[in-house]
Amino acid sequence: MACDNNLMPHSYEYDVLIIGSGAAGLTVALNLPDHLKVAVISKGKVSSGATLWAQGGIAAVLDSEDSLENHVQDTLAAGGGLCHEDAVRFTVEHGRESVEWLVASGVAFTRDDNANFHLTREGGHSHRRIIHAADATGQAVSMTLTGQALAKSNIDLLESRVAVDLITHRKLSLPGNRCVGAYVLNLDDSHVELIQARFVVIATGGASKAYRYTSNPDGASGDGIAMAWRAGCRAANMEFNQFHPTCLYHPHAKSFLITEALRGEGGHLLLPDGSRFMHRFDKREELAPRDIVARAIDHEMKRLGADHLYLDISHKPAEFVRNHFPTIYEKCLKFGIDMTQQAIPVVPAAHYTCGGIMTDHRARSDVNQLYVVGEAAFTGLHGANRMASNSLLECLVYGRAAASDIAECAARIPPPPSAPAWDESQVRDSDEDVVISHNWDELRHFMWDYVGIVRTTKRLQRAKHRIDLLNREIGEFYSNYRVSNDLLELRNLMTVADLIICSALQRRESRGLHYTLDFPGLLHEARDTVLTPTSFRTQSP
Ligand code: FAD
Ligand code: SIN
Repeated sequence: MACDNNLMPHSYEYDVLIIGSGAAGLTVALNLPDHLKVAVISKGKVSSGATLWAQGGIAAVLDSEDSLENHVQDTLAAGGGLCHEDAVRFTVEHGRESVEWLVASGVAFTRDDNANFHLTREGGHSHRRIIHAADATGQAVSMTLTGQALAKSNIDLLESRVAVDLITHRKLSLPGNRCVGAYVLNLDDSHVELIQARFVVIATGGASKAYRYTSNPDGASGDGIAMAWRAGCRAANMEFNQFHPTCLYHPHAKSFLITEALRGEGGHLLLPDGSRFMHRFDKREELAPRDIVARAIDHEMKRLGADHLYLDISHKPAEFVRNHFPTIYEKCLKFGIDMTQQAIPVVPAAHYTCGGIMTDHRARSDVNQLYVVGEAAFTGLHGANRMASNSLLECLVYGRAAASDIAECAARIPPPPSAPAWDESQVRDSDEDVVISHNWDELRHFMWDYVGIVRTTKRLQRAKHRIDLLNREIGEFYSNYRVSNDLLELRNLMTVADLIICSALQRRESRGLHYTLDFPGLLHEARDTVLTPTSFRTQSP
């Protein structure tokens, strides 16, 4: 379909608008047919998402000793009884072809001495099945897919564009609920553009920035989850925010991740006195699933009043360590830590949003022609705790599924109806940005303190009370002032934090990543927490 991109100033039309340029967004773009005109937008640079930072690798059954059934069973076990088995089987069964697509696209995965792909291990996996590019897998994936997208004439990569909100039939007072585009803030000239499309794909990543300490890059503010929620989509299992057990403890390291593959290759967790402790928590010791390891570390830190514990691989030959973990080795050295000689100080940090916007096997959401892929989506794969390296896999499998569904439907979906330009006539420039920075800090502090690794009903209610106050304040701010990236991110984080807190209050048991002292047991029946925009209460009970 031809696109007229000179309709009116700051107004564009495409066949497909993809919001987000990480593994999920680029996978969709690159698997669409060439005759569709595609825009991929990103907040900052194309590589601004979490994908660039992925270390460990991608889980897939590639070894003859392994089996699809093993991968399925490991994922189900890590997910604490809450995975949707059909989603797990769908993902695992499409794993090999997705990795082969990456290889064919040019990703240079690490090979062993026999030129076979080297497979590493991570928590919860019973076999070696993580394909990786040393300890910088995300960089290899991100750079390769970006290069491929740049070479395609039907794909426009638009950087410094922040999606503000989706445009739907409902907002245009038209019948049905179809998504027909988005308003997008161009950070270069501060104008809000209108980008219309026949299909819209949300690939905006997770929301771990809701927490004070996180392994995630700055933009992980749950924008896509919040936008889809406002457009009428259901969100599920938002209480399951995953904390990665081992991030570098150093005031200037910004919670830099120390990959789980380090434990997969023999690294030990140590107390300050140098003794190991994981055997007291799980027979899989350092390779237990992440929820168990993070809780064990949290427990020991609280018991000892320690700021951090240690991760040690210095008992392995120095050359082995440097070859397997070159990025981490260099990073630690920059902070005066030689990991070939000494243990690395580590703490847990918020890492991954297991819940998200509900989708089916084609990545379709509740709103017509709106797809959600990657970390922003809830597919049912992860259950109550994501198994390591299943996330990039999910981005690839569901990204390809979304592309093939769009390709199938494209011929029968008409162009979007016209929508009005963004109206700024009622707003003015903000004269007190301190409100934004103050509320941003407050939110991330109380989410860490009250909605963290170990929860109680009282702490959750406290957090709910705070979020209601902040939501009102920021809602008012949003109605009166011109939008900025910080304001948009804060508004979205408020929404997502509210969803996390409300979901956590609804779950009256401890399962996977949701652990509450008030309900330490497991309910007989495993149920998803599904929140619906129309029935959602935003005020404290
Ligand atoms: P992202 O890669 O996060 O991309 C999000 C995109 O959306 C970005 O381009 C961003 O600019 C854009 N965006 C967001 N909001 C807006 C908006 N409002 N408007 C416009 N654009 C927007 N998983 C694994 O499977 N294996 C690993 O080894 C692994 N290691 C990890 C290590 C680290 C340090 C981290 C943080 C995560 C790791 N994960 C790993 C998780 C995995 O990297 C992410 O879940 C995955 O990359 C998410 O991909 P995505 O495409 O959904 O989103
Ligand atoms: C890691 O390398 O430890 C991160 C893997 C993941 O989050 O899946």
